[in-house]
Amino acid sequence: METNSQPNRGFLARAHTFLIYLGVIYISGILLLLIPTVQTHFLYLHKVQNPVSPKFNSPQRYGLAPYKALDINISTSDNVRLGAWFVLSDSFFQHASQYRRPMRPFSEADISQSILGRPTVLFLHGNAASRAAPYRVTCYSTITSRLDANVLAIDYRGFGNSEGVPSEVGLGKDARAAWDWLISHGAPPQSILIVGHSLGTGVGTMLASELVHEGKDNISLRNACRVHPRGLTLVAPFTSITMLAKTYTIFGGLPLLRPITTFPFAFDFILSFLNHKFDTISRIPTVQAPILLIHAEGDDTIPNSHARSLFDALLEPLLPPFPFTQSQMLNPTAGDSAYWKQLQESTRARSAARAEIVREETLEGFALTAEFQRPGDGGKVKHVEMKWGGHTKLVTAEGLVDLIGDFFNLTRF
Ligand SMILES: *[C@@H]1O[C@H](CO)[C@@H](O)[C@H](O)[C@H]1NC(C)=O
Ligand SMILES: *[C@@H]1O[C@H](CO)[C@@H](O)[C@H](O)[C@H]1NC(C)=O
Ligand SMILES: *[C@@H]1O[C@H](CO)[C@@H](O)[C@H](O)[C@H]1NC(C)=O
Repeated sequence: METNSQPNRGFLARAHTFLIYLGVIYISGILLLLIPTVQTHFLYLHKVQNPVSPKFNSPQRYGLAPYKALDINISTSDNVRLGAWFVLSDSFFQHASQYRRPMRPFSEADISQSILGRPTVLFLHGNAASRAAPYRVTCYSTITSRLDANVLAIDYRGFGNSEGVPSEVGLGKDARAAWDWLISHGAPPQSILIVGHSLGTGVGTMLASELVHEGKDNISLRNACRVHPRGLTLVAPFTSITMLAKTYTIFGGLPLLRPITTFPFAFDFILSFLNHKFDTISRIPTVQAPILLIHAEGDDTIPNSHARSLFDALLEPLLPPFPFTQSQMLNPTAGDSAYWKQLQESTRARSAARAEIVREETLEGFALTAEFQRPGDGGKVKHVEMKWGGHTKLVTAEGLVDLIGDFFNLTRF
């Protein structure tokens, strides 16, 4: 007995020490995140390279047909130079290649012609790496071929070969500069579909809601529909960085901040240092354009409950109002039968209204969809919950790209 328990005790002591070390490392890591520069690098991961040292001026190295993508510079309102690729729609590219023998680079005039002929996807990528990342290039390829749309893919400030340092306000300006670039090349706003992926969903929502406010304040634009984009597609979105912090996982499943959420005070303290909020859930109700939310069931980076919450936030104004405040909900008077009765009735009324408004569909082995029409200028809202797909490669699935085309009438442009 004695001899048996001895090594065990040693093991327990070692495990104990190990846990203490782990705790110290964890807490130091969290404290480091409070330093603004560290936080910026951690959130945007803009220095992560994939591929390493990309040659942005030869997109054909990364799988796009030679000359199909043009490397361009876009200048923002605060004079930051952004690198971007303009990828031509397949019909324009293939038609043009018939008579361009030998092949030579396309000009800005060619870009304008392609922009007038086909819709354009303004692609706002997620954090880490650049516009040349393999999984992103596959997206451009699928979109340009399957939807026959152009793609404008920018690298935000600090990413790829773009100048500057990323920030929430800065990324908003970058998306806006890309939008303005398309307009100045002749794109009707109705032909531009904003597609954001992951972090880019926060940026895309910012852009779409900014365009609406502009229309409201600007008399010369009112009723002119000049600032209504074709729509907004959010792939693997999040409600806000604040809420994401509670559930964010790294290395495919390690919940980063969850241990701290046990101590609400400490968690709120840490959140007060958060410089980049990307508060999509408060912005999205203001967007006046059709909205498509796409999320995969097994997303291991951002749980798919985020897309559902965004869908619910858009639906909320159409439902009978909830009769209780949050504090009333948290502290129901025990045994107060009037409270429980009212709660039950309200829940029933709300789900009845929801069933009336929302049309659900099951695409066997592929996705669940839910859709409703917002009143006024709002347009349709659709939520697609993919059965598979993960976080990064969602927009490469043919079926999904077809859903995007259908929802925004891109094929009947
Ligand atoms: C973009 O700007 C950079 C820096 O000024 C320059 O080296 C590059 O040639 C420009 N690219 C294009 C396509 O104009
Ligand atoms: C309204 O929009 C027009 C066209 O884009 C622009 O030239 C003008 O400066 C805007 N006015 C205001 C007050 O924003
Ligand atoms: C697409 O076309 C259909 C039928 O013409 C129309 O009802 C729908 O509103 C259009 N959707 C968008 C996003 O423009």
